[in-house]
Amino acid sequence: MRQRIIAANWKMYKNPQETRSFCESLRKLLPIHMEKNIFIFPQSICIETLKVALASTNIKVGAQNCYFENEGAFTGEVSPQTLFHMGCSSVLVGHSERRQLFGETNESCQKKILKAQENKLIPMYCVGETLEERKSNKTFEVLETQIQEGLKDADLKKLIIAYEPVWAIGTGEVATPDIAQEAHEFIRNTLKRLGNDDVALLYGGSVKPENAGLLAAKADIDGFLVGGASLKADSFSEICKTNLTRPVDAAR
Ligand code: PGA
Repeated sequence: MRQRIIAANWKMYKNPQETRSFCESLRKLLPIHMEKNIFIFPQSICIETLKVALASTNIKVGAQNCYFENEGAFTGEVSPQTLFHMGCSSVLVGHSERRQLFGETNESCQKKILKAQENKLIPMYCVGETLEERKSNKTFEVLETQIQEGLKDADLKKLIIAYEPVWAIGTGEVATPDIAQEAHEFIRNTLKRLGNDDVALLYGGSVKPENAGLLAAKADIDGFLVGGASLKADSFSEICKTNLTRPVDAAR
């Protein structure tokens, strides 16, 4: 049974104080029964603060990145084992900013996914094409390669996928519900061939309260990975309410 999920990617925003005040506001706005379907990914240095601020809730905390070793002489890296011990449930892998700015490849993503799963963290694996790739009709090819290579030997039952077309991230240009659905359906079919079509598939890229409803109505869109609009408790809670009240598969 697929799950509806809304995730907040805070990127390199919010200090500990801002983290605490966000949580105070969110708790006033959000019905308790929705908490278990929500993930928040803060900067790693704010994980502890966020865990404390959310202590009496069911909201899950994750990291935006981790290394593919548990410990060692890897200055500046984040250990997946330590993330688990700090109470993280999940880790983003292969976000397009990591791929574009920090040289992340499908191969390094695959190693991180395996190591995350070994440490009981659910990888939220991000895939998506650039504008150039879309314009030259390579979207499906790119998605297929990202999935095949990134998920090699991974446990498809302990995984979330976020489809985030690079041209829609932080640009204000959201994919139309039909474009997003087409990509999600392709990803779902690819995962089916690999053995599990029950993976939660989130859409990410300029999601806002105003566009979340139409996207959430699509059959293969199970939730969202939200950047900019997750930084304010009121817009984030609106997106949660729009999506988490719908039964999964509502449009089928
Ligand atoms: P955005 O970011 O919602 O600001 O476009 C999404 C993401 O980067 O995950």
